[in-house]
Amino acid sequence: MATRKKAKQARPAAKKATVKKTAAALPAPSKLPYGKAGKALDGVRILDLSHVQAGPTCTQILGWFGADVIKVERPGIGDITRGQLRDVPNADSLYFTMLNHNKRSITLDTKHPKGKAVLERLIKHCDVLVENFGPGVLDRMGLTWDYIHKLNPRMIVASIKGFGPGPFEDCKVYENIAQCAGGAASTTGFRDGPPLVTGAQIGDSGTGLLLGFGIVTALYQRTKTGRGQRINVAMQDGVLNLCRVKMRDQQRLKHGPLKEYGQFGEGVPFGDSVPRAGNDSGGGQPGWILKCKGWETDPDAYIYFITQAPIWEKVCDVIGKPEWKTDKDYATPPARLPRLKHIFATIEQWTMTKTKYEVMEICNPVDIPVGPILSMKELAEEQSLRKTGTMVEVDHPTRGKYLTVGNPIKLSDSISEVKRSPLLGEHTKEILGKVLGYSEKEVTEILQSGATSAPLKSKAAA
Ligand code: COA
Repeated sequence: MATRKKAKQARPAAKKATVKKTAAALPAPSKLPYGKAGKALDGVRILDLSHVQAGPTCTQILGWFGADVIKVERPGIGDITRGQLRDVPNADSLYFTMLNHNKRSITLDTKHPKGKAVLERLIKHCDVLVENFGPGVLDRMGLTWDYIHKLNPRMIVASIKGFGPGPFEDCKVYENIAQCAGGAASTTGFRDGPPLVTGAQIGDSGTGLLLGFGIVTALYQRTKTGRGQRINVAMQDGVLNLCRVKMRDQQRLKHGPLKEYGQFGEGVPFGDSVPRAGNDSGGGQPGWILKCKGWETDPDAYIYFITQAPIWEKVCDVIGKPEWKTDKDYATPPARLPRLKHIFATIEQWTMTKTKYEVMEICNPVDIPVGPILSMKELAEEQSLRKTGTMVEVDHPTRGKYLTVGNPIKLSDSISEVKRSPLLGEHTKEILGKVLGYSEKEVTEILQSGATSAPLKSKAAA
């Protein structure tokens, strides 16, 4: 403290100058109203070599925030998902359209000499390269980190692989493999059943979102260092990151049974690994999925009910068990833990007399945390989600109108618009000319060389 005071006295003029300089360096706030000042990632150009779900999730969200996403696709085929799970003949599948909004598509055979040259020019014109090829593919294309860095020292190279360095690093990986290898499947499902995968695509979309976070972080660091860097996210790591609470419980096991797990109350001993816990809550507040009115015919007539300790007395009143408020077997959280199965069965007797929405109406005003099990149909029809842009209707030239899931991250000064996915190679000419600066003659040469078009190549060969 004293030293600091001394320093302050010794250099008063210098300190004043610094303060003045910092204040002057602050950018003046925009006078434009919120949402009218462009997009957060305006000016960032992404070279999108990604395919299927994990990489495209990442580049789509960057596109929603305003990045110019140039998706490179194999001539004639494109991203394999264009043709997978097709519901409308000759139209890009929903699998593709729902993961590739706000992008431009250029077709390029990266193994063709001219295609390779175009790709190298793209590297020089972009800020970030995103890829989720199988292990070693990028290197086999000749695009090692050293080479890319030499072409463009500012380039950020962002990769998703199934596994990080280790015994499985050479393996190809899809969603469910990541869920299994990342600890999600072993901890999901019921104790007496097999491991289960979840419908939420935590391996693909989850890892894509993590990669997006890595990219904006690296872009921020580049503002200070001026150079790019490599980003690697392994799907196993991404899933494990989302399963953190189960790794917490793994360590707690050493110190005794997991009392908030239903199996404790049932008297079933724990093994040496975290068991599947059915619908037990993952936190300190016991919860379970309970039947509601209509459950016999409606597979989604259920509600998640949490017996949060501070509102326990309200739970007792609502379900008609006021005597539990003072009964020593029910009045305190530790007393309730061995009886959770009975407690939830009793609450269920009450929820079964109400629809899930009626349970919401009764419980929410008294702060009892409950949540309806919503079907995809109900979510698709929910108007409030349309109003916030979480669900969006998009028009597409070959498939017509379809519903998609929009940006869940709402920034007040960077409004998200969801623009339809590109047709295969829709922007090839535009990107060659306007982004890469090839002359009209050069563009024609490239187009005729077979580097961008499989059919032209076979015509030339014939
Ligand atoms: N022009 C020419 N060739 C191209 C090309 C283009 N525009 N785009 C891709 N290719 C080639 C690659 O060079 C590679 O060829 P090579 O093996 O001869 O080097 C091949 O197409 C693609 O290989 P790969 O990425 O391994 O595709 P795959 O269909 O065999 O495997 C995955 C798909 C998803 C399993 C694999 O990419 C993978 O494990 N990715 C990492 C993990 C991941 O993201 N998984 C989740 C996907 S949602």
